[in-house]
Amino acid sequence: MASAKYPTSRAALWSLLIALVLGVSSLTAPAAATRTGATAGLSCGFYRHSCPDAENIVYNSMQQSYNQNKVVAPGVLRIAFHDCFVRGCDASVLLLGPDTERSALFNKGLQAAAFDALDAAKIAVDKACPGVVSAADVIQFAARDSVKLAGGLGWDVPAGRRDGRVSRIEEASTPNLPTPNMTVPDLLEVFARKGLSANDLVVLSGAHTIGHAPCLTFDNRLQTSPVDPTLAPSFAAQLKKQCPAPNNGATQVDLDSTAMTFDPQYYKDIARGRGLLTSDQSLLADGRTKRAVYSNRGTEFYTNFGKAMVTMSKIEVLTGSAGEIRRHIAYVN
Ligand code: HEM
Repeated sequence: MASAKYPTSRAALWSLLIALVLGVSSLTAPAAATRTGATAGLSCGFYRHSCPDAENIVYNSMQQSYNQNKVVAPGVLRIAFHDCFVRGCDASVLLLGPDTERSALFNKGLQAAAFDALDAAKIAVDKACPGVVSAADVIQFAARDSVKLAGGLGWDVPAGRRDGRVSRIEEASTPNLPTPNMTVPDLLEVFARKGLSANDLVVLSGAHTIGHAPCLTFDNRLQTSPVDPTLAPSFAAQLKKQCPAPNNGATQVDLDSTAMTFDPQYYKDIARGRGLLTSDQSLLADGRTKRAVYSNRGTEFYTNFGKAMVTMSKIEVLTGSAGEIRRHIAYVN
């Protein structure tokens, strides 16, 4: 299995912080070129004849990886997001190189174990059906499987994406990707650029029901006096203990109070002022998103999430004879 190494050093994390801060100011930058033909050519059961066992093979491989390291589930889910929001869902986030998306500061926090899991899944599926299943589809199958493995429900993944040959470091940034200190108006703008609605924003943010975030992505909320008033006082006190200022930016904190389990807890936490990132908590403060925070606190969230992931998975896809079926997830053919 090929593996990729990612800097997790404090220097890299501080660089990320700088990028996050700088990134916000570039929200109004001109839109990156987008591709047309958005969803044409995707269908559920796309590999029914060409590789009938493809989805089972990916699931089994993901299960193995997840059993070895639980960070694989949030890691892969986040990779799916960063793939689709930059050049569409074309696996451009997986390409290795000094100037690819994968080297961007915004992507430094993506889990090495998650890249390894995708690598293993693609190798397994290629063993059964060489050159048939795209890396872009493997990401989407594996994201669905990650949610299932972490306790959520699966969904039918429309497939038939092809892999991009281009990946540019500068595109893995705002305005394509949001920053954690954004509030709803800016978040809506980022999502609208990808054709996604306010409801999609709320439901997809529910991915933060699993995984972690380093202190530096939210400690701006703690360093002011008084602290961010949207934080519940007891939660602010807890976070201050977990992230003692200064210099503890790299410490990881749970994104919700049941961070190993995919469940609706994220929304229950937000409703009580216990959302970790500004972007999470702000969903309660805006009339365009507040109602959906409340309505996802129950089991509806599970099906809503699957639907929103399908919507996201159709962003600017390459189909037909565009792009290629990559032989190795990390390199163009
Ligand atoms: C709405 C705007 C969003 C913002 C501002 C945001 C920001 C962040 C940040 C700062 C982290 C911490 C990661 C790190 O630096 O290590 C994070 C983690 C994560 N994000 Fe988001 N995110 C957003 C939406 C999404 C969406 C749409 C998804 C997937 C559908 C997603 C999935 C995740 C997951 C699963 C993690 C945990 C990763 C891990 O533990 O390895 N996020 N996000």
